Order: sequence, then C-alpha cells, then structure tokens
Amino acid sequence: MENLYYDIDLGRVPKHIAIIMDGNGRWAKSRMMPRTYGHKMGVETIRKVVKECSRLGVKYLTLYAFSTENWKRPADEVNALMSLLVSYLRKELAELHKNNVKILTIGDISKLPQACIDELNKSIDETKDNTGLVLSLALNYGSRADIKSAVTRIAKMVEEGKISIDDIDDEMISSSMSTRNIVDPDLVIRTSGEQRLSNFLLWEVAYSEFYFTDKHWPDFDEEALQEAIYNYQARDRRFGNVK
Ligand code: FPP
Repeated sequence: MENLYYDIDLGRVPKHIAIIMDGNGRWAKSRMMPRTYGHKMGVETIRKVVKECSRLGVKYLTLYAFSTENWKRPADEVNALMSLLVSYLRKELAELHKNNVKILTIGDISKLPQACIDELNKSIDETKDNTGLVLSLALNYGSRADIKSAVTRIAKMVEEGKISIDDIDDEMISSSMSTRNIVDPDLVIRTSGEQRLSNFLLWEVAYSEFYFTDKHWPDFDEEALQEAIYNYQARDRRFGNVK
C-alpha cells in the first residue's frame, strides 16, 4: 500500500476507532482567527480521516461532533457548527456513497435544526445499504443520557412483565443504547492534549485503548492517524485475562 508513514500491520487495524476531535478553537486562536475558522479547518481533517480509515480497512469510525453540553456555547458558534454539518453532508455525500461509506448517527438528533435533520436523514437513507466504513456522527450526544434512556427502556420492559430482572445482561444493555449497531471501540483518540472522556461512550469503552496527542484537530492528518494505529498495535490487550 502506498503512503504508509508507519509500519502498520494491515491485518490488525482497529475495527472501530472513536475520536474526540478537540482543539479547533485553540488552533484558530493561536492564528488570531475566529473559533469558527478552526471548526471549518476541522472539517477538512474529517474528510482526510474518513478517507484514510476507509483506505486502511477500519470498519467503524465514530466522531464526537457535538455533545449535549456544546449547546452552552455562544449561539454564533453553535450555528456555525450546524451549518458546517449541513455543508459537509451536501458536499461529501456523493463521494462518501461512492466510497461505500454508511452514515449513522448517535445521540438525539431530533433537537438539531431542521436542515440538519433533513440532511442527516437523507445521508443515512442513501447510504443504508453500503458495506464499507460505518461513519457514525455523535450529535447532541451524551453518554449518560444514552445510558439513562437504555436503563429506562429496560425498566419499562420489566414493569410490563416482558422480561424479568434476571434477563438483564451486558448484551441487553448494549443493545438498548444508541450504539447498538456499532461494535465497541478498539481505539479512542483525543486530540489537543486533554486527557478525559467528556461523556463520550462511557459504557462502550470498557476495554478500549486510549491514545492522546497534543496536536489540535485541524493539524491531525493521515500520518497522525497512522501513528495512532501504529502505537495501538504495539499494545498488549488482555481484556482482563492473562496471556
Ligand atoms: C472541538 O474543538 C471541536 C468541536 C466541539 C466540534 C467538532 C465539529 C466539527 C469539526 C465540525 C462539524 C461536524 C461535522 C461532522 C461536519 P473546541 O471548539 O472544543 O476547541 P477548543 O477546546 O480549543 O476550544
């Protein structure tokens, strides 16, 4: 394969990479530019990373694009992020479809502006039969909210006598979450030097490997992604067992 910057074992790429795309604001600020410019450049990174994941044979890519807490940001910035989402989907859908990418969302998208909902539904529908990379966009997503609705759903089934308490197991909880169609992440990447999960996939990361880089999201690229995968491949995943 061309353009391999690291000696990656292509037979062992992580099946699911989940990314906390952080640092757009700081990246822009250090260039005396508005934060929204950082987000705009962040979309360029999304394009690169989606393509590179497809190329390397990653099966699932999940991007934390907008958290339940991000509504607290100034209205201008929230609007800019929503517009970027719409323009990304409008511009990229044909290319994503051509590359066999299947688009999903996690989180409560019903609270997003109608233009986002329409564009997302169209993208999800058009790519639903694709068999390549599954690109999940976490939008208005918060893991505690997701866990809470899973617990509520299961409690209701118990209340209605459809299941008994003894039926509740990991599998039932996993399949009650908005990530039910996605395998648990093998590798979680966070950019820009912060080392926390910020309410992302709390249930699903039980056995994930974590990779932190000081690079801000707009500076992350194909080479940085390969570096993360290379670093992941050097680790010894025991899943609580001995080897
Ligand atoms: C983190 O930077 C980034 C975000 C909160 C948003 C990420 C979203 C996009 C790049 C674009 C829209 C999404 C799609 C799917 C096209 P930050 O603002 O938290 O940076 P800071 O920590 O330096 O302030």
